[in-house]
Amino acid sequence: MPTHQSLSGASDEELLQRMVKTHPDRYDGAFWKYFTSHVKNLPPRAAAIDLGCGPGLFLRDLGEHYPAAALYGYDITPAMIAYGQQHVTYAGGKPTLTVHDLTRDPLPHASGAVYLVTMSSVLHVLDEPLPVLAEIRRVLSRDGIFVLHDWIRQPLPAYLAWRRENLGESESVSLHRGFRLFPVHGKYTSEDWQWLLSEAGFVTRHQAELRASHRIFVTTPATTA
Ligand SMILES: C[S@@+](CC[C@H](N)C(=O)[O-])C[C@H]1O[C@@H](n2cnc3c(N)ncnc32)[C@H](O)[C@@H]1O
Repeated sequence: MPTHQSLSGASDEELLQRMVKTHPDRYDGAFWKYFTSHVKNLPPRAAAIDLGCGPGLFLRDLGEHYPAAALYGYDITPAMIAYGQQHVTYAGGKPTLTVHDLTRDPLPHASGAVYLVTMSSVLHVLDEPLPVLAEIRRVLSRDGIFVLHDWIRQPLPAYLAWRRENLGESESVSLHRGFRLFPVHGKYTSEDWQWLLSEAGFVTRHQAELRASHRIFVTTPATTA
């Protein structure tokens, strides 16, 4: 299975450093304003898991907003998990971070035991998203929330310009990496994501484009008869 790293040509260490560096911009005040207005108070000691958690910084911030939550993070890349375990200071709850391949292993949570699942910039990388979404659906409680935040297709010139302006890439780097990553980052439109979520049994309650590259979907499990 190609990983994000092999698709981008970046090493694990390069992707890790990029995630750390861009974290404050990606999860800024506007993001948290949106997030907390749609994911309100969690039930006491609710389990909250972040899939493809990267260096653990999102879980650090999540723990500050929801200090009573029991936090878990899963990522296939050992360097990401090691960073989250060794270099992040958690003012809120300390998450349990585990190396885990979402495409291979079931989540180590009982059915219906998780209240909140988040997944940011990960699902587009996975060859087969539906089995992963089915596993998320399995662990979520009936009143649980799944927040998907992922890349959406942009026109090619806009995407290349976005890379230069937002990632600070030079013309030559943006052309090299940009052409390589355009089919990866532009794999799904907003409508495709909505269709996938619906196919997987999620109802979209809210959605927004907090930046041109990504769309966020706040969903709940569809009720079954
Ligand atoms: C673009 S990074 C996003 C990291 C984090 N969610 C964030 O927003 O900062 C994608 C992450 O997905 C992880 N990943 C890719 N394939 C995975 C898989 N099959 N199982 C678990 N994690 C995976 C990568 O290791 C990487 O940390």
